[in-house]
Amino acid sequence: MTKVIRWGIIGTGNIAHQFARGLQSVSDAELVAVGSRSQASADKFGDEFNVPNRHATYEALASDSSVDAVYIATLHNFHKENALLCLQNHKGVLLEKPFTVNAQEAEEVINFAREQGVFLMEAMWTRYFPAMIKLRDLLAAGAIGDIMLVQADFGFRMGTVLPKHRIFDPDFVGGALLDVGIYPISLASMIFGKQPERISSMAHMGETGVDELSAMIFGYEHNQMAIATTAIQVNTPHEARISGSEGRIHMPDFWHPTELTLFRDDQPPQTFDCPFDGNGYNYEAMEVGKCLREGKLESDIMPLDESLALMQTLDKIRAEWGLKYPME
Ligand SMILES: NC(=O)c1ccc[n+]([C@@H]2O[C@H](COP(=O)([O-])OP(=O)(O)OC[C@H]3O[C@@H](n4cnc5c(N)ncnc54)[C@H](OP(=O)(O)O)[C@@H]3O)[C@@H](O)[C@H]2O)c1
Repeated sequence: MTKVIRWGIIGTGNIAHQFARGLQSVSDAELVAVGSRSQASADKFGDEFNVPNRHATYEALASDSSVDAVYIATLHNFHKENALLCLQNHKGVLLEKPFTVNAQEAEEVINFAREQGVFLMEAMWTRYFPAMIKLRDLLAAGAIGDIMLVQADFGFRMGTVLPKHRIFDPDFVGGALLDVGIYPISLASMIFGKQPERISSMAHMGETGVDELSAMIFGYEHNQMAIATTAIQVNTPHEARISGSEGRIHMPDFWHPTELTLFRDDQPPQTFDCPFDGNGYNYEAMEVGKCLREGKLESDIMPLDESLALMQTLDKIRAEWGLKYPME
């Protein structure tokens, strides 16, 4: 019989709700505990998702013996301390993106997970969708020849500037790059299997001192390139285009994709429909379950060395802009 993974969630905000809904579509997973900074919020969340154990502190959640794995759904600047807390209590950890504030924090968390021998994975949910598996298969089979260029964007419009909102507030590591810029950058990393050797970028800093719009060009060995744009005050198409020596692939809504189209030179386009079950957050939970059942300490699809390398890339980009957060 398949072992049921008993989940706990730290934080009761927006993404915690999405993940809890996603878990409802995973047959071999159960949401058994939630931890919040307040009992009222834990109880409200518990009532909504029928969660038996409702904790008024993150510490109580982390030490709950009925929990196998914890999904950390707090703000970027709390990821490190919340992950360390769970790892210390020998709970497998699924840590929201961006993994941490910077590479130094990422290294600390990864080293600790390895020392403790406990599972850890970045919750880059995009990687586990059926359409992403199809994309990886097509690229590996040489469907577009040698991959030469990745173009992807993730921008959305917040509208009114709310200085105390996590998206704008430097104290909560606001800005587009770490919140949504990570999607196109992580996509390029997945496709090329490496980080850029050269980076050219430009950013517009908004009135609260965080990046509201930016464009980045990455150069890799063998003349490969990626172009990524990201924003929090302009809606962009959310499209990925991967071009190679023999064709290209277009993937609309690449951060939660349902299809992709292959254009091979001199052939009619071929669209692959790849619908997803549930709300999509189920796939990352399924990957954690698979790894835990196999006794693995990290995922092959989102390896920890890559999560660290991605944070190093984000650090380099921010260094170009002179963007440091108050806690750094
Ligand atoms: N994968 C995705 O699609 C996706 C989408 C959106 C966001 N995210 C990521 O998920 C994380 C949370 O984003 P969110 O949109 O869910 O944020 P949110 O709605 O503001 O919720 C964040 C939660 O963090 C907890 N928290 C701990 N200390 C806090 C503090 N001092 N102030 C405010 N909240 C605090 C709170 O939970 P308690 O009150 O229960 O303690 C709060 O509900 C971010 O890192 C973000 O990048 C991922």
